[in-house]
Amino acid sequence: MALIEIHRLCHRFPDGTRSLTDVTLSIDCGEFVVIAGANGSGKTTLLKQLNGLLGPESGTLSVGGVSVRRDPLAVRRQVGMVFQDADSQIIGDTVYDDVCFGPENLRLTRTEIDTRARRALGAVNLDGSEDRSPHHLSGGEKRRLAIAGVLAMAPRVMLLDEPFSNLDYPATSTVLEHIRRLHEDGHTIIVTTHDLEKVISLATRLVVMAHGRVVLDGAPETAVEGLESHGIRPPCSVLLGRGIQPWLP
Ligand SMILES: Nc1ncnc2c1ncn2[C@@H]1O[C@H](COP(=O)(O)OP(=O)(O)O)[C@@H](O)[C@H]1O
Ligand SMILES: [Mg+2]
Repeated sequence: MALIEIHRLCHRFPDGTRSLTDVTLSIDCGEFVVIAGANGSGKTTLLKQLNGLLGPESGTLSVGGVSVRRDPLAVRRQVGMVFQDADSQIIGDTVYDDVCFGPENLRLTRTEIDTRARRALGAVNLDGSEDRSPHHLSGGEKRRLAIAGVLAMAPRVMLLDEPFSNLDYPATSTVLEHIRRLHEDGHTIIVTTHDLEKVISLATRLVVMAHGRVVLDGAPETAVEGLESHGIRPPCSVLLGRGIQPWLP
């Protein structure tokens, strides 16, 4: 059985907007999945379903054999989500407190919480910033803090929703490098984006969504060929006939 099993998942918001229709995906441990799609195609809704923040209208979704509907808390322990809006994820008055928040809710010992928080901050190069106010961090630092907060929960799966939005070139490079390392360290990674260029060379799989449906799913090298028909700009290197190339020099 795959780590994540999604079968015929449908979602409808209370106002009647249908955002997912019949989504079926199975994702193995260690995959690096890029979910691409235009604005409004259902990417964020799908991640929130995977994280148990939204419940399905119909269909099933399980992580590690545990149904999200039956035990959303157990699933949330395995699946960490970095939200698109980094500010909305800030909870603590200091960088250190912010990263401790997740592990505190896991009811770990103080020593274990401290070890995890410091390790997570070190992993995103925010050690030394423990006493700063999260609200005074730069956009890139906030994104890295959000990643650290999720890392400290030690999830198997990390969901990153548009992790490069509003970041300048240096911050994008740093966040990209951290995501690469998370995958190298054994996390299963799912990244959404409407702009494939930056992250596609890290992916083991490309899923394309349109109007709430999965319209393309395959190895990045082959799936990129079908992008334009779904309104997504292929990476420059693909347009130039050079295949998928790393975005970082
Ligand atoms: N809270 C909400 N209430 C009603 N409709 C929503 C809500 N959030 C998103 N939608 C709609 O659901 C669809 C999918 O949205 P979303 O999952 O955010 O797409 P994406 O992340 O790909 O941009 C869109 O049509 C969007 O307008
Ligand atoms: Mg979104």
